[in-house]
Amino acid sequence: MSSDKAFYLTTPIYYVNDAPHIGHAYTTTAGDVLTRWHRQRGERVWFLTGVDEHGQKVMRTAEANGVAPQEWADRLVETAWLPVLETIDAANDDFIRTTSDRHTERVQRFLQSLKDKGEIYEGKYDGPYCVACEEFKLPGDLLDGEGDYAGQKVCPIHGRPVEQVSETNWFFRLSAYAEKLLAHYDANPLAVQPQSAYNEVTSFLRGGLQDLSISRSSFDWGIPVPWDPSQVVYVWFDALLNYATAVGLGDEPGTPGAEQFAATWPADVHLVGKDILRFHAVIWPAMLMAAELPLPKQVFAHGWLLVGGEKMSKTKLTGIAPSQIIDTFGSDAFRYYFLRSITFGSDGSFSWEDMSARYTAELANGLGNLASRGAAMVGKYFDGVLPAPGEYAEAELSLQRHLSGTVDVADEAMLRLDFQSATGAVKSYVDAVNLYVTEQAPWALAKDPANGERLATVLYTICESLRAIAVLHHAVMPKATALIWEQLGAEPALGPIGVQSVLDAGRWGQLPAGATITKGAILFPRLEEPAS
Ligand code: MSP
Repeated sequence: MSSDKAFYLTTPIYYVNDAPHIGHAYTTTAGDVLTRWHRQRGERVWFLTGVDEHGQKVMRTAEANGVAPQEWADRLVETAWLPVLETIDAANDDFIRTTSDRHTERVQRFLQSLKDKGEIYEGKYDGPYCVACEEFKLPGDLLDGEGDYAGQKVCPIHGRPVEQVSETNWFFRLSAYAEKLLAHYDANPLAVQPQSAYNEVTSFLRGGLQDLSISRSSFDWGIPVPWDPSQVVYVWFDALLNYATAVGLGDEPGTPGAEQFAATWPADVHLVGKDILRFHAVIWPAMLMAAELPLPKQVFAHGWLLVGGEKMSKTKLTGIAPSQIIDTFGSDAFRYYFLRSITFGSDGSFSWEDMSARYTAELANGLGNLASRGAAMVGKYFDGVLPAPGEYAEAELSLQRHLSGTVDVADEAMLRLDFQSATGAVKSYVDAVNLYVTEQAPWALAKDPANGERLATVLYTICESLRAIAVLHHAVMPKATALIWEQLGAEPALGPIGVQSVLDAGRWGQLPAGATITKGAILFPRLEEPAS
């Protein structure tokens, strides 16, 4: 591995059968926050997201809408999947489409190389298939249908009947990899996280694996199998490869693709929802083993956003579009809320009441109020010029210690993808600074000119704390923290907010005395009371 290998993080590529809901935005948001954090640790980062365009699910949706699948996919990408990245403020480095030439050519080359190695053979598939999962199922995976589906076998995830597939296909020798994967996971316990996901994967592997059909012959919306154009590549085999095709998989040595691959692969984190864990922690690493390529360092499976106790989904008409929330709360609050309120790795329920309560308490009254009070008081008492602090008392020294602890906790939590603890640590620091403001009561100090030095120390402490808070919260709330940076007049001395080191955020005294402090826009406007 070259020493300047990027921290490489991927999201799943999303099916373009429909527009994104907040369940999809949740994964991308988490990826965006983590990659921003790693950038602010001074690392080179590569953040990939994209869309999964092939398969029966997309093909049938296009048919139902009376358009060709490519036209449907183009439309959804342009009108929904690219715009949602703006809506949630994601700073991805690349966006892969599985219908792009760079992807299809590399997939074909990869497949041919596995065929040449004897990893692929022709066989007959007879069994159930769930189009919503795009997955070959084992009879034991299925549930008995109820109501409209009584007497039929249904998919446990989608609750809808499976289809019977009987085709001559090309098979990948997946069964040969169960033991090797178990040995890999035994030696690398962090390769699948959280622990519940690790346990699920290893216990599944202990049951052994069957070979996998990796092509389909009954429809043509997919990448043609290079040696047998009557078949298209199975959509998951095609889709999983995106993580490697997007960074130059299999390109000739000396080409830009090969260089990018060397500087990026293997992925550090594949973020996935728990429903697609096995594809990523069983099939994908087996494909890589077969090709003798390095395995991703970690697959992290997060939980589902639930509505009424069930996975939010468009098929069940429970999908909420990100803009429905962001139009009211803004993208920062959206990002903050989902990472702060749900343990990453567990399911979580969304409710407007909970979102409003946290917004008001932690953002409007917490961080927003601190920022506006700090700026207003420097304006009022020092004409907007940050005073130099005098001697620090125990109250300030204690805040400084608290800050350096916060940096350690937040960084350690972020590296474990524990967004809740990371944001919680910064939030506790905000609370401590708000308490400090109340206790020191600068407005009371200002009444007596003899307290001038003490007042300067308190206001400097508030602004320097805001400097650190802006740096530590930037990955989660890029817009509000950029506004704080502006209010603090920090850029001339310290540079742009996006390049501030999180690891160095606790070093006290970075904001220079003399900085121009302005009272800017309100960061988190109060919510209007619903009309009664
Ligand atoms: N196309 C495949 C992934 C291929 S990756 C090589 C796919 N697409 S998907 O659009 O159905 O789902 C993409 C991701 O969104 C999955 O990680 C899934 O878990 C996540 N979510 C979909 N609904 C969700 C919730 N209600 N809550 C949280 N995440 C959810 O699967």
